[in-house]
Amino acid sequence: MSGRWPPPCLLYPQLRRSRMVLVLAYLGVVLGITLAVDRSNFKTCEESSFCKRQRSLRPGLSPYRALLDSVQLGPDALTVQLIHEVTKVVLVLELQGLQKNMTRIRIDELQPLRPRYRVPDVLVADPPTAPLSVSGRDDNSMELTAAEGPYKIILTARPFRLDLLEGRSLLLSVNARGLLEFEHQRLRRVPFSDKVSLTLGSMWDKIKNIFSRQGATDPAEGNGAQPEDAAGDGDKAKTQDTAEREEPGAWEEMFKTHSDSKPYGPTSVGLDFSLPGMEHVYGIPEHADSLRLKVTEGGEPYRLYNLDVFQYELDNPMALYGSVPVLLAHSPHRDLGIFWLNAAETWVDISSNTAGKTLFGKMLDYLQGSGETPQTDVRWMSESGIIDVFLLLGPSAFDVFRQYASLTGTQALPPLFSLGYHQSRWNYRDEADVLEVDQGFDDHSLPCDVIWLDIEHADGKRYFTWDPSRFPQPRRMLERLASKRRKLVAIVDPHIKVDSGYRVHEELRNQGLYVKTRDGSDYEGWCWPGSASYPDFTNPTMRAWWADMFSFDNYEGSAPNLYVWNDMNEPSVFNGPEVTMLKDAQHYGGWEHRDIHNIYGFYVHMATADGLIQRSGGIERPFVLSRAFFAGSQRFGAVWTGDNTAGWDHLKISIPMCLSLGLVGLSFCGADVGGFFKNPDPELLVRWYQMGAYQPFFRAHAHLDTGRREPWLLPAQHQDIIREALGHRYSLLPYWYTLFYQAHRDGSPVMRPLWVQYPQDVTTFSIDDQFLLGDALLVHPVSDAGAHGVQVYLPGPGEVWYDIQSYQKHQGPQTLYLPVTLSSIPVFQRGGTIVPRWMRVRRSSDCMKDDPITLFVALSPQGMAQGELFLDDGHTFNYQTRQEFLLRRFSFSSNTLVSSCADPRGHFETPVWIERVVIIGVGKPATVVLQTQGSPESRLSFQHDPETSVLVLRKPGVSVASDWSIHLQ
Ligand code: GLC
Repeated sequence: MSGRWPPPCLLYPQLRRSRMVLVLAYLGVVLGITLAVDRSNFKTCEESSFCKRQRSLRPGLSPYRALLDSVQLGPDALTVQLIHEVTKVVLVLELQGLQKNMTRIRIDELQPLRPRYRVPDVLVADPPTAPLSVSGRDDNSMELTAAEGPYKIILTARPFRLDLLEGRSLLLSVNARGLLEFEHQRLRRVPFSDKVSLTLGSMWDKIKNIFSRQGATDPAEGNGAQPEDAAGDGDKAKTQDTAEREEPGAWEEMFKTHSDSKPYGPTSVGLDFSLPGMEHVYGIPEHADSLRLKVTEGGEPYRLYNLDVFQYELDNPMALYGSVPVLLAHSPHRDLGIFWLNAAETWVDISSNTAGKTLFGKMLDYLQGSGETPQTDVRWMSESGIIDVFLLLGPSAFDVFRQYASLTGTQALPPLFSLGYHQSRWNYRDEADVLEVDQGFDDHSLPCDVIWLDIEHADGKRYFTWDPSRFPQPRRMLERLASKRRKLVAIVDPHIKVDSGYRVHEELRNQGLYVKTRDGSDYEGWCWPGSASYPDFTNPTMRAWWADMFSFDNYEGSAPNLYVWNDMNEPSVFNGPEVTMLKDAQHYGGWEHRDIHNIYGFYVHMATADGLIQRSGGIERPFVLSRAFFAGSQRFGAVWTGDNTAGWDHLKISIPMCLSLGLVGLSFCGADVGGFFKNPDPELLVRWYQMGAYQPFFRAHAHLDTGRREPWLLPAQHQDIIREALGHRYSLLPYWYTLFYQAHRDGSPVMRPLWVQYPQDVTTFSIDDQFLLGDALLVHPVSDAGAHGVQVYLPGPGEVWYDIQSYQKHQGPQTLYLPVTLSSIPVFQRGGTIVPRWMRVRRSSDCMKDDPITLFVALSPQGMAQGELFLDDGHTFNYQTRQEFLLRRFSFSSNTLVSSCADPRGHFETPVWIERVVIIGVGKPATVVLQTQGSPESRLSFQHDPETSVLVLRKPGVSVASDWSIHLQ
């Protein structure tokens, strides 16, 4: 077959055989003095005035009462007013039953002084509703039934609460702890010294006066208007009522030397959710913490506020680069999700009535009948916006994934190349360096798909340009890479150098597309290029302008094999509060940065991905890596875990960090292989390659100050092991690609915690050191220095697991001690699955895409197995627009392996054929017969190893697109 491989696509025999100157001032300070995060740069809840205020509320009777007489039942929603018994401020609650077993709750002020931010662009569409009807009522409550989904909602008036029930069992309660807190907008009060106390009534009169004097509409009618249309600006109010008398931080907040002017005063929102029967909660990334969330009582809540945290610390709830406000609750009987759609700074408190109890203590409670039902309580607190929350009622984890995907979309189907290996560092010096690295992979028989260029490639950190002395001929360099069927990724950050000679800056400034300060001038902060301004990506015009910049004409020197990396899009502002933008900076539509902070990076990612799609006339799929993210970012590409460190603990934490992201839709996740800061020793680097090879986004990256660490710079022994790890990655690409297709189809995570697949197996609920890829492979990376063995948990019962190297069979459930050497990493295939592989590892994935497939069929104890394979051209949208794809199903039962079409819509011409079938866990047959449509039966030659029970069928030679069956007789 070798004649079929195009000449540049070398076959690696070994694999077959073995199977700044400005910024430096900033950096210098930090690098010189600190070895770990400087916590004082980032707020605690106590230092974030709204979090402190919200958290100071104690559970108890809620001051809110639902006015049952105000209930209005429309076709799409039920609305009811909630009155605060003390302040008499009225809120409106909108309750929607949604199709697919979901409920949406929105709470806003009835008469806001100024409209509140409602997060746009995250939901893929208005979710289809399932009307609610009133099925019962008494003086203090109302029973509602959803037209779809087996649940009822009890609305209790005083104190206000909602209970969602399925049959007689309570699934979830809202405001059961009475922590609904909605800081209604208000005017600043008269100073204390004036000894004037305003009643709320007189305050409203004053508000109305202000409006009538300014000829504005009634604030109650302002709902949905742009905030700049309303006249409730705190400053205007201030002119009426002068200075503040409220608690510190409510109308102005200082953090270190930074002042947040808070012109609209306190606007935070908070609400609690009780989850009876739930002891295990997950999600709300991004935190460098365990997969299973911890109880936060007595400590810090988990924080969601996109931040550039230098040398982040592990095992704590501090905010990191991205935020996805989605929490999953799991019990052996049920899974639920809470999606809190708010883009402002958010904190999440978790408490549990079983926290601190040992398993033994819980058992004792149970035996004595003295234990309460376990319950987890979750409390969300956001600085501004409305309360907009989706309750995803499962019942299984996969239902929750589908529900969330139906709201925010699924993982974009990555181009095949992006699932290969990426070689990056800050920085490859020049064109020659890039081409030498490229050549290095060939010289050392290592596959690689992409070489990356960091900020130094641009001319003075002016993105979309090239340093003229180091990268004088970028197109030529890109062509050289293209001739090897490799790609280049270049960084394009969203901070733009303030420089009148830089076209990007000039155009953005002239068109008024930058984020503004409160006084209306262009906001400037410090970042890599020095003084920089920040495009306002919340503005659709800005996004369209940015997308246009990726056209081959606008982005000079670019070419179709150049893809993009968006970094620093939290946004990172070196001299800003908490290394980010001032909260009172102004965005499109008059919104404050406070309202939109967590969605800024999402928009950068979106605009860049759109740009890459546009430059190809809508044909090619983009690849964009982003550091910041929000709910829905999965639609635009990949994310990574930011600036980690070359240490064993960072290697370990990459598992729960990526698992958490996968649970909330962001399957395309990876960590810098080798660790960004510091120099890994060869053992750590080898272990990191072995781990990265089994994580979705596989990129080596390193800080400017680290030593070079391309694999061939390691001792030969280590190089060989890295080659092997890369080989495993490349051979499994058909499986990876199929898993990504499945994630794209229905939101199921590619990299999965064990509990998702084994929901009743309590042992799996807090496993952080191993994971599943799809439902077939279980990976237990080695993440300890000098390890001689690992404890692997193989779930079951009724499962068998085959070591993919030795084919040794193990029963589940059991904890197995497995000796390891430096070259081994335990990976198992579950009996009952079929995994497709490419067995010839070549220079890049593009060189392998037409290679024949080997099917690994691992039989269950019942002698069954099944699997899927997705194939298309690997890079265009034709799978969608022209149905050019193949989705094949393979199933084995009654000694027969059948290949059939799993999606009759798809058709795709492909030379790919099945070159081998390896059946694991089977006895020796007398004959093996192949049947294909329209051809006579033929016998296949085979080999059987009685020791491992592995049967290898050679050369079935059938096209992957055709229906066939193989019978063992
Ligand atoms: C940030 C990124 C890192 C990159 C560096 C220079 O620290 O997280 O990956 O190398 O900026 O662009």
